[in-house]
Amino acid sequence: MILFDTHAHLDFEDYDTDRDEMIGRARAAGLIYIVNVGFELDSSRKAVQLAEKYDLIYAAVGVHPHEAGNVPPDYLEQLELLAGHPKVVALGEIGLDYFRDRSPRPEQHKVFRGQLALARKLNLPVIIHDREAHGDIMDILQQEDPFSAGGVIHCYSGSWEMAQQCMKLGFYISIAGPVTFNKSNKLKDVATRLPLDRLLIETDSPFLTPVPYRGKRNEPAFVQYTAAEVAALKKLDSAELAKICTENGRTLFRLNTTS
Ligand code: NI
Repeated sequence: MILFDTHAHLDFEDYDTDRDEMIGRARAAGLIYIVNVGFELDSSRKAVQLAEKYDLIYAAVGVHPHEAGNVPPDYLEQLELLAGHPKVVALGEIGLDYFRDRSPRPEQHKVFRGQLALARKLNLPVIIHDREAHGDIMDILQQEDPFSAGGVIHCYSGSWEMAQQCMKLGFYISIAGPVTFNKSNKLKDVATRLPLDRLLIETDSPFLTPVPYRGKRNEPAFVQYTAAEVAALKKLDSAELAKICTENGRTLFRLNTTS
């Protein structure tokens, strides 16, 4: 099986004791690409460092809505500098989180829009975080459209109707571990309907661990379980589904080298 984990946070201290082994397990499971996604400036820097150390890792740099209230005045300049690295393939993760509301909503909006504008300036794809903020996410995306380099709604949790609107704006939809949970009927339905050419898979490691490891720390090797579940929903062979998602990821993040 050939796999692409399009969203992971492998710089987190959860992996400090076994990072090399965890990457080894990812390779053994068939992973050929991982996008390590930034959470704030420091983790964005660490994402770039991981991308320098491991050939299969690429980096996204950005400020998560939780951190929107803590950014220094020059955060966009700092992100732009980091984005100049050849292994930075996207801006992310950026968006809105009304579930935890760790930063005031006006700050979340400002930092989200600031980074969308930066992505447009740099012609980079965007990785969108949307938790319990579907309405405002869609309003902002529609106002900020067009996105020259496209993007992805990561760990998708919205409705089928919203997915259709996102795809109309050129976004991919990324399915994470919760699709393997018994009670995720809405997400299973969305995954079943999604056209194959708009579909990505991810782990969001160390969070959202799929069945059969639910409750434990997540890692990229486990993206195979999400691939298997989505394949079953679509009545496809797992390896075929994994290959299609890998190609989609290569297209979005422009990893379509001649290999
Ligand atoms: Ni994430």
